[in-house]
Amino acid sequence: MEVIVVKDYQELSKVAAEIIIEEVKKNPNAILGLATGGTPLGTYENIINAYKQGEVSFKGVKTFNLDEYCGIDKKHPQSYYHYMHENLFNHIDVLPENINIPSTEGNDLQAQCDKYNELLNQNTIDLQLLGIGGNGHIGFNEPGTPFTQETFVVELAEKTREDNKRFFNSIDEVPTHAITMGIKNIISSKKILMLISGKSKVDAAYNLIKGPVTEEFPASVLNNHPNTIVIIDEEAYSKLK
Ligand code: F6R
Repeated sequence: MEVIVVKDYQELSKVAAEIIIEEVKKNPNAILGLATGGTPLGTYENIINAYKQGEVSFKGVKTFNLDEYCGIDKKHPQSYYHYMHENLFNHIDVLPENINIPSTEGNDLQAQCDKYNELLNQNTIDLQLLGIGGNGHIGFNEPGTPFTQETFVVELAEKTREDNKRFFNSIDEVPTHAITMGIKNIISSKKILMLISGKSKVDAAYNLIKGPVTEEFPASVLNNHPNTIVIIDEEAYSKLK
């Protein structure tokens, strides 16, 4: 795991965007794995700016998102479908047919997982962007998830619902379940880019970098991946100095 320590969130976002843009310039048909949440917002802003300046095109790029909430419609302002369109897809030239986000529509969620998993097996992700949960989750693979797990319906940990309630009016509105790529899907990516920012991630960063590789801390699996870059800002790195 290569660890790049940067000054602050702004620099983290710039460096992360540069790595993604380089990947797409090198391979205009790149397959990108994308994340939601607060952390990648600055990265997406930088990517949009680079696109607007004609620096990069996403016409040949395919995307796969990590996860989607169950129990809310994709038009809901907090759905990850909505987030991705609002914060990235609507502002770049990626083709709608090349965008993949797990669908949580209908009653047969297992069928939705199987369909998404099949697509992932047919498409090797070149670069997977990740954030980290305060409890070490990646995607929504909560502590205790086997490293062999493929796409599945997960019951969100209470810590995750608490952390994410800032995006909703109250904890009661935070979905209890989601569909997520499994850890096996994530680590099948050729390259992984993990972003860690802010003081709420100090312990998670420490456990990732210094802790044992254990299913109790899902992100620790990245220590077994041959091509992972962690970009971390000084605040999140403070316990590691
Ligand atoms: C998002 C995702 C999650 C987040 C994590 C950190 O698609 O799968 O693992 O990356 O919860 O979220 P933020 O960035 O909001 O701290």
